[in-house]
Amino acid sequence: MTFKVKTICCIGAGYVGGPTMAIIADRCPELMVLVVDINKQKISDWNNKDLSKLPVYEPGLSEIIERCRNKNLFFTTKIMESIKKSDMVFISVNTPTKEYGLGAGEASDLRYIENSAREIASAAEGHTIVVEKSTIPVKTAEVIKKILASNQKKSTSTFSVLSSPEFLAEGNAIEDLENPSRVLIGGECTDAIEALANIYLKWVKKEKILKTNIWSSELSKLSANAFLAQRVSSINSISALCEKTGANINEVSEAIGMDDRIGAKFLNSGPGFGGSCFKKDILNLIYICKYYGLHEAAIYWENVIKINEWQQKRISDLVVNKLFGTVIDKTIGILGFSFKANTNDTRESPAINICKNLLEEGAFLNIYDPKVEGDKIKNNLKEVIFTSNKKNHLKISIMASVNELVKNCDAIIILTEWDEFKSIDWSNLSKSMRSPSWIFDCRDIIKEDENIPTDNGLNIWKLGCDRK
Ligand code: NAD
Ligand code: UGA
Repeated sequence: MTFKVKTICCIGAGYVGGPTMAIIADRCPELMVLVVDINKQKISDWNNKDLSKLPVYEPGLSEIIERCRNKNLFFTTKIMESIKKSDMVFISVNTPTKEYGLGAGEASDLRYIENSAREIASAAEGHTIVVEKSTIPVKTAEVIKKILASNQKKSTSTFSVLSSPEFLAEGNAIEDLENPSRVLIGGECTDAIEALANIYLKWVKKEKILKTNIWSSELSKLSANAFLAQRVSSINSISALCEKTGANINEVSEAIGMDDRIGAKFLNSGPGFGGSCFKKDILNLIYICKYYGLHEAAIYWENVIKINEWQQKRISDLVVNKLFGTVIDKTIGILGFSFKANTNDTRESPAINICKNLLEEGAFLNIYDPKVEGDKIKNNLKEVIFTSNKKNHLKISIMASVNELVKNCDAIIILTEWDEFKSIDWSNLSKSMRSPSWIFDCRDIIKEDENIPTDNGLNIWKLGCDRK
C-alpha cells in the first residue's frame, strides 16, 4: 500500500522542529505543514510579525518563514487537532538528561517523547506515519510502538514508526537542511519509508537518502555526535600539549587534517564543545553501554566529557594565573556567550563554566554577545549568582557593544567566534583597558599576521599557540 501524505505535523517547535519544518514547507508547497508546541509563548514568537523576534536565530531562516508562514506552514498550540489532520507526525521534542531517579545524570529523560506518543495515540485517525526526529536512545521506537498500541483511541487507527534523526548543526541549520550530508531513514515498513523519502526527494539527491533498520538509525545519531565531540576533545588535549612544547595547534591541525583518513573538519581547538546535544548524547551512550555491561566502552566515552570539562577549567585557571594569581576585583570582558557563532543558543556553552569559575575567583564580568539577550545570560549564571555569593549578580554587567565592554577591563576572553570579533582593531581598542592588559583568544580570531603592538602593556595569548 502506498501512503499519500498531504498534511504533516511536527510536535516540538524548537531549534530542530522550527527550521526543519520551514524547509519542508518551502520545498514542498503542496504539503500542509503544522508545527505544534505546548509552549504558548514559543508559538506566539514563531507567529510574530517582527521576524527579528523569532524564537530561533539562524541565518536565512526568517526569509523562509516570511515566504511560507500562514501559506502552507502554520505554528499552533492546537496539538490534537493538528495530529488528527495529519498523515505523518514528526516527534521533535526535547530529550534532556534525566535529573533524578534511575540513570540520573546519564540516561535520557523520555517523558516528552512518551507524552508525544500519547498525544498521537489519542488524536490520530486512519494510518499515521510517526517519525522520531528527536535524538533518542536505541530501542525507543519499541516504547513508542507500545504506547501507540495500548492508547489508540480508535480501533481503526494504524501506525508505522520510523527513525529519521536530524543532523543539522546550529548556526548552519538552513544550509545543512537544504544540502544535508545524508538523510537517514530507519524502519520496517517499506511504504512508510518511501513516503518519507519522497518528501526529501523534492530537494535531496537519491544517493544521499540512506535506508537502514530502525535500531541502526537510532544508534547512528548518538554515535555521530559522540565521534564529532571526540574529535573536539582530541584536538583540545593536543592544544594543551602545544602550549607546553612550543608547537602551534593551528599548524598541527592543518598537518593532521591533510591526511584524507583524518580529514580537516572538526579540528579547531577552542574552549570545549557546548550545545544542547554533544554532552547529553554522550552521557546517554555511556548509560546504554553500562546497561549492556560494556564498561570499557563507557569509560572510553566518559573521558571525552572529562577532557571537555578540563579544557574549560584549564582556561579559567590560566587567566587567573596570568593576572598575577588573582582576579579579585579585576574586570574581565567576555566576548561571546553562545556556544558557537551564528546562534542565540547558550545551552552547555563553555562560557557558562568559564564565567562561573571567574565569578567564584572574585572577578567582575562585562559580557557581550551579538545575539544572546542579557536576561538569558544572567539566567544561565543564576546557579553561581544565588548559591555561592549573593552579591555575584552585582558583578555581572551585560554590555551593548564591544567598545562599551572593553573600557577599564584588565582582560578580555574571546569565547565565541562571531564574525564581528574578527575585525576588532585591538591596538586601538585596548587603549581603553587597564594596563597591563590581556586578550585571551580561545577561538583563533586574532591572526598572527595582524602584528598588534604589545609594547604598551598589552599581552595577547592564543589557545594552543603560546607557551605558558
Ligand atoms: P528544543 O527544546 O529547542 O525544542 C523542543 C520543543 O518541544 C520545546 O519547545 C517543547 O516545549 C516542545 N515539547 C515538549 N514536549 C511536548 C509535547 N508533549 N507536545 C508539544 N510540544 C512539546 O529542542 P531542540 O533543540 O529542537 O531538540 C529537539 C530534539 O532534536 C532533541 O532530541 C535533540 O537532541 C535533537 N537534535 C537537536 C539539534 C539541535 O541543533 N538543537 C540537532 C539535531 C538533533
Ligand atoms: C552538533 C552536530 O554537529 C550536528 O550534526 C548535530 O545534529 C547536532 O550537534 C545535534 O545533534 O544537536 P551543534 O552542536 O549545533 O551540532 O554544533 P557543532 O558545530 O557541532 O559544534 C558543537 C560544539 O563543538 C560547539 O561548541 C563548537 O564551538 C565546538 N567545536 C566544533 C569546536 O570546538 N571545534 C570544532 O572544530 C568544531
